[in-house]
Amino acid sequence: MSALFPRSARYEELVPGNLMGPHVLWLMESLCARTELGTGTRVMDLGCGKAISSIFLAREFGVQVWATDLWIAATDNWKRIRQAGLEEQVFPIHAEARALPYPEEFFDAILSVDAYHYFGTDDFYLEKLVRHLKPAGQLAIACPGFTRELRNDEIPEYLRDFYFHQQWHSFHSPAWWRRHWEKTGAVEVVCAEEMPQAAEIWKSSTQPDNPDAPVILADAGRLLTFSRVVARRLAKS
Ligand SMILES: C[S@@+](CC[C@H](N)C(=O)[O-])C[C@H]1O[C@@H](n2cnc3c(N)ncnc32)[C@H](O)[C@@H]1O
Repeated sequence: MSALFPRSARYEELVPGNLMGPHVLWLMESLCARTELGTGTRVMDLGCGKAISSIFLAREFGVQVWATDLWIAATDNWKRIRQAGLEEQVFPIHAEARALPYPEEFFDAILSVDAYHYFGTDDFYLEKLVRHLKPAGQLAIACPGFTRELRNDEIPEYLRDFYFHQQWHSFHSPAWWRRHWEKTGAVEVVCAEEMPQAAEIWKSSTQPDNPDAPVILADAGRLLTFSRVVARRLAKS
């Protein structure tokens, strides 16, 4: 529980056993502060993991959510959705982000928390993804990131193992994401920034049994952040 995340505080009972990284509800709450989610609109929660962020979205904003994930079976997520009584509002879909089974211009918004960096760094990806958005629909992501792009000879000792062997080289700065999206001409970037609550969210992964804890503690907010990036689909794309 954190005073920084009053909406998430209402869903703490969903959290035990369902985190797959830093606190997913806090990340989603922070991302939602930069997006506009009208009641009844259609939202894709891309890389939703155990779908508690999808439950959060449905309950907090009254949206319909397509809870889309690869590693977690749709049947597992359906159990959580049914327990939450959201069978009419949250739909679990097992899908690969590069081959989504949705129509073009279907969604008002695509939100993605701690997942987009696994598939979204391909230069060709964004244009394919935003086809599923209505014109001016929103794409919003929150990803672990660095405050700036790092050269290999700048990686501090405490980070080297994770950077080179645990794929943390896939973390990018807000400025990197802005450029990555803007250069396609497919979206207008609304914001690309460090999440203001990044330190608090990283702290959620510093329990003694978390293998990431020593790195996060050693970094002490110097390089690690969360990139929060929001864009709107341009009509021409
Ligand atoms: C670190 S987990 C985060 C899950 C959840 N968003 C959270 O924060 O708890 C990353 C998620 O990205 C999803 N993911 C990774 N690669 C994917 C792909 N190619 N297509 C769809 N989902 C993918 C995985 O299924 C996984 O659930």
